Amino acid sequence: MSFLNRLVTFLGLSNPSPSPPPGALLAATITVPASLGFVPVAVHFDLFAVLVQLGDATAEEVASAANAQLKPGEPQIGVLLASDTLYIMSGLGLLDQISETMFRANAITKHLVSMPSAQHGALHFTTEDLLAAAFTMRKLVATNFAYPFADADGPIQHAYKLMGNEALAKEHTYTIMEREGRMESFNEFMVGKFLKYGTFPSRVQELGYDLASALAPALAPALAPTPSQGEGVVMVDIGGGKGELLLEVQSAYPHLRRDQLVVQEFNAEIETSLPPDAGSSEAGFTTMEWNYKISPIQPIHNANIYSLQHILHNLPDLDAVSLLQKLRKAMGAHSRILIIEYAKNRTYTHLHASMIALYGGRERSSQEWRALAEVSGLVVGFEKYVEKGESLVEMRLAEG
Ligand SMILES: C[S@@+](CC[C@H](N)C(=O)[O-])C[C@H]1O[C@@H](n2cnc3c(N)ncnc32)[C@H](O)[C@@H]1O
Repeated sequence: MSFLNRLVTFLGLSNPSPSPPPGALLAATITVPASLGFVPVAVHFDLFAVLVQLGDATAEEVASAANAQLKPGEPQIGVLLASDTLYIMSGLGLLDQISETMFRANAITKHLVSMPSAQHGALHFTTEDLLAAAFTMRKLVATNFAYPFADADGPIQHAYKLMGNEALAKEHTYTIMEREGRMESFNEFMVGKFLKYGTFPSRVQELGYDLASALAPALAPALAPTPSQGEGVVMVDIGGGKGELLLEVQSAYPHLRRDQLVVQEFNAEIETSLPPDAGSSEAGFTTMEWNYKISPIQPIHNANIYSLQHILHNLPDLDAVSLLQKLRKAMGAHSRILIIEYAKNRTYTHLHASMIALYGGRERSSQEWRALAEVSGLVVGFEKYVEKGESLVEMRLAEG
């Protein structure tokens, strides 16, 4: 220890909370996976909401209140499982342990309860992602480190193969989630995700993008023809889930009719989970079944905007190009593709890993977007990347 350091320590001037040693930091990160396996237990028995309701509570009290919510005949949670789950959740920071036997909701617990999509997200990452993570190395070893993964032949498929489920081993992860009854929960996750960074129109405005101009032909009603066979559609949200994005657009631009806003999906759960007014009035949007992987052509031509929000990061490069090329063939000179994704920066390394393991997808840098645009006959017309939250890349026809 240098003299200066000894003097600082002697005078009590040293940092009162010195940073933990590297080994402790390493252990804190690397030992997390088994704890994550208990998150679905907490979600299944609604332990976060129960703790918020009870205030400070023991595991016995939490277990008893959780079991009281169950339907008759449903398996109950025992006190030891509740106690271990609460203790482990406190280690993850999802609630606080205030004494050896007492637990308390913290800000994250309250967020999980007030924003149900966050609990569905927690479930997704501790179910599908954890499985994929556990089989990433085994998949690589089994294929002599062939890389990148194909969209429906990655760690998840390898896991099902080794578990003896040959049928699911051949399916895309979205289909596996559907067959496993997980899609309703995943769709709920997509509605609000872990948190919302404002609405789509406000976000893109903050990024400096002129959404009003991109929607412009529809702003003059005389220019908006009666839609027929897709003509007159202003915005198509591909893989738009429950249509949140289009509802936000319509709320900012209320003159847009439901037949001018189309969600294209292949997701069987979507129709049944739409908001009640989505199909019954001028408000809302139209849904159309379209499978961007299988359908050879994009049926809606000349839309102002084709939006892809968190779609291309689900796709390997070749599949991303295939989808972009289908859109290019449908686009007019005024058409724009809006790609809404997280930037490939230090904030989103975990998400990058998830996309690789689940779908052979990836987050992408500006250089990668430009390369995809070029081979698809498109150019990047606008791009803005943010540290946290959704970034925006706009593509238009190269010859336009
Ligand atoms: C990550 S989610 C994004 C949902 C929504 N765009 C959002 O940002 O909230 C991906 C969506 O793509 C849909 N999807 C996946 N494969 C598809 C396909 N082959 N054709 C059409 N939609 C697909 C899924 O059903 C899901 O709703």
